[in-house]
Amino acid sequence: MKKEIKKGELHPNNPHKGRYNFEVLVKNLPELKTFVIKNPVGEETIDFSDNNAVICLNRALIKTYYNVNSWDIPAGFLCPPIPGRADYIHYIAELLSKKKDVRVLDIGTGANCIYPIIGSQTYGWRYTASDIDPKSIENAQRIIDSNDNLKNKVDLKLQKDKNNIFIGIIKDEDRFDLTMCNPPFHSSLEDALKANKRKVDNLNKGNKDIKKGLNFGGQKAELWCPGGERLFLKKMAKESALFATQVYYFTSLISNKDNIKPTIKVLEKLGAKCRVLEMSQGQKISRVLAWTFKK
Ligand SMILES: C[S@@+](CC[C@H](N)C(=O)[O-])C[C@H]1O[C@@H](n2cnc3c(N)ncnc32)[C@H](O)[C@@H]1O
Repeated sequence: MKKEIKKGELHPNNPHKGRYNFEVLVKNLPELKTFVIKNPVGEETIDFSDNNAVICLNRALIKTYYNVNSWDIPAGFLCPPIPGRADYIHYIAELLSKKKDVRVLDIGTGANCIYPIIGSQTYGWRYTASDIDPKSIENAQRIIDSNDNLKNKVDLKLQKDKNNIFIGIIKDEDRFDLTMCNPPFHSSLEDALKANKRKVDNLNKGNKDIKKGLNFGGQKAELWCPGGERLFLKKMAKESALFATQVYYFTSLISNKDNIKPTIKVLEKLGAKCRVLEMSQGQKISRVLAWTFKK
């Protein structure tokens, strides 16, 4: 029977529901202990505005839940919140129902390679993962090479033309059950930095004794592209039609809900059928747009 998804809660299959179990996490990664602090009501937590603490928490989560023992990102690169990233995977898994030998393409995998890690270790999916940043590809390759359980599961490809998304990555002989993407959001580096400052200021509110700093990095191309999320989605929608017979479901995270309608408009003109999957975590709502050209 399908489990009911309550508003504000992560997907029922997401193992990151509820509070982090620091006892288990510290047992699996003792170096996390130095970052564990108590919140005002005496519960264990970390300082989420401290980038080193967040990276260490991620390392512990990735080791505990995905059996990936060696994971790191270079200084300044995007450090992904794991529970939300896992939610995307569990929602799209529903589109595939019980299909075997699933092949997924992750567009813009980043230095962190998070979607291939979660998808391959949770559902056994085989991944192709692209990025335009050679440093990201290099780091993602390092993660794969240092973990035996990722070695035959993930192939990385450098997208050599930053104006392309699927072109140059999907070859004639390729077939994918699904593509996924967490697109660059901002339309300029300045916007990306401002948004990050706002986020850190909010995290620091009422917590004056913790040190201030950027809680996530993000190299230029990771967080922004000309035209921001809307233009990236438009480009992805248009290019997807060229691969209509090679991919069953195309999907993308959409952070700004105002970008949903214009993207669907482009897709419907191209003959795609669209579906919006709504995900929520507390007050935060995010959406995955899924589309197919199959009849
Ligand atoms: C918001 S980050 C997402 C990284 C990672 N998937 C995550 O969720 O943490 C967007 C990524 O897309 C990459 N990117 C930007 N344009 C791209 C393109 N045309 N093709 C492939 N990757 C691209 C960036 O370099 C960056 O790593």
